[in-house]
Amino acid sequence: MAAAGSAVGLGNIWGFPTQAASNGGAVFLMVYLLMVFALAYPLLVAELTIGRYGNADPITSLRKVWPQQKALMGLVGLAGMIAVSLILSFYAIVAGWLLGYLLAPICEAAGLVSLAHWLETFGSGRNLVLMLIFMWLTVMVVRSGVADGIEKWSTRLMPVLLLLFVVMVIYILTQDGAWAGLRLYLVPDFSHLSPKLIVSAMGQAFFSLSLGVCTMMVYGSYLSKSANLPKTAAQVALLDTGVAFIAGMLILPAMFVAQHNGVVIYDESGALLASDTLVFSVLPTMFDTMGPVGMIVGILFFVLMIIAALTSSISMLEVPVSCAIEELNLKRHTAVWWIGGFICVISAVIVFNFDALFGRVVTMTTAYAQPIIGMIFALLVGWIWHRDKVLQEIRKGYPAVESSLFWRIWPWYVRIVCPVLMLLVFFVQ
Ligand code: TRP
Repeated sequence: MAAAGSAVGLGNIWGFPTQAASNGGAVFLMVYLLMVFALAYPLLVAELTIGRYGNADPITSLRKVWPQQKALMGLVGLAGMIAVSLILSFYAIVAGWLLGYLLAPICEAAGLVSLAHWLETFGSGRNLVLMLIFMWLTVMVVRSGVADGIEKWSTRLMPVLLLLFVVMVIYILTQDGAWAGLRLYLVPDFSHLSPKLIVSAMGQAFFSLSLGVCTMMVYGSYLSKSANLPKTAAQVALLDTGVAFIAGMLILPAMFVAQHNGVVIYDESGALLASDTLVFSVLPTMFDTMGPVGMIVGILFFVLMIIAALTSSISMLEVPVSCAIEELNLKRHTAVWWIGGFICVISAVIVFNFDALFGRVVTMTTAYAQPIIGMIFALLVGWIWHRDKVLQEIRKGYPAVESSLFWRIWPWYVRIVCPVLMLLVFFVQ
């Protein structure tokens, strides 16, 4: 449940539809699905398995897999920690925008029109304040260890979110212009296929499944020995991809409805305009067209999305925090405040240099760091870790694994296919 909470978040509703809209729609969707099942799923099993075997923070877990190379494994763990902290620093900015769009209509209804306007208008001050509020929420959850409660909540709310999505998809498809968006999303035009598209789809798959930065390793370490790892990973991957797919059915048509109503979304060269913020300007416009129910639908939507983002952000903060607690013997309370504060500082630097830094940090972490560190995990599981030990670990929750199709394919697959596919990142620009 927690791993699903980590996976479902802004990556599904903001990252995936934006990438799909800028990369030819249906072709991106197809390559993305291929990447999730051919690459991300096997790696998710690998990361969860290392974590559960180690039953400790990521640095110690990695060292248990390769005890002869303690220093090297420490560095790999550190690289994951730095990457995940950078990811959280931009994630908190985007999640802050959700808070803004939630609060704006409420302020407006209360007569605070200029505050509502400020909350909805892109600007450094507004981005900073909203980011700090979101980070504060994340810190509070991780600090008090109420993550348990939040996860239970979020799994109960997940079906509500899905249902709301379905209702919104039906609504948007009744609007003029929507079918052009749906066509872009579902009818492939292979002229868009390019090496860059493949790399973007891979990065998006890694991002959406929270891979390559030790997040799933930490969550693996919290799993019980009776959990069936390949099955758990499959459930997480299916749920996450399902949510992304439905979000695409909503967002792409919504963009074209906005275009139909006079909003310019693509420039002359066909590139998506203001792609980072587009989703958040298209959705409130859609809620406005719904009349009085629009406000309720909008509030419900943003509340659910903020909870989904929170179950993701806590999984990120948990990585450096678990390392600091176990490796440096810090108290949870102290570790959370120091690390949370440090991430706020990085995030503030990005806020004040948004144009120069935001896109770069996103690409550097998701398209490079995640696949590269993920490749190191695959190499570890495939080449360093003894096959029998891997088998032993997976067998604990899946006694019949040895005779399964999974075990006939997966070990070789992680050993050869995954690293080769990920090498693409180095050669394709
Ligand atoms: N997967 C989450 C999403 O789709 C975000 C996330 C949580 C994440 N933990 C992560 C992304 C670790 C990269 C690395 O919103």
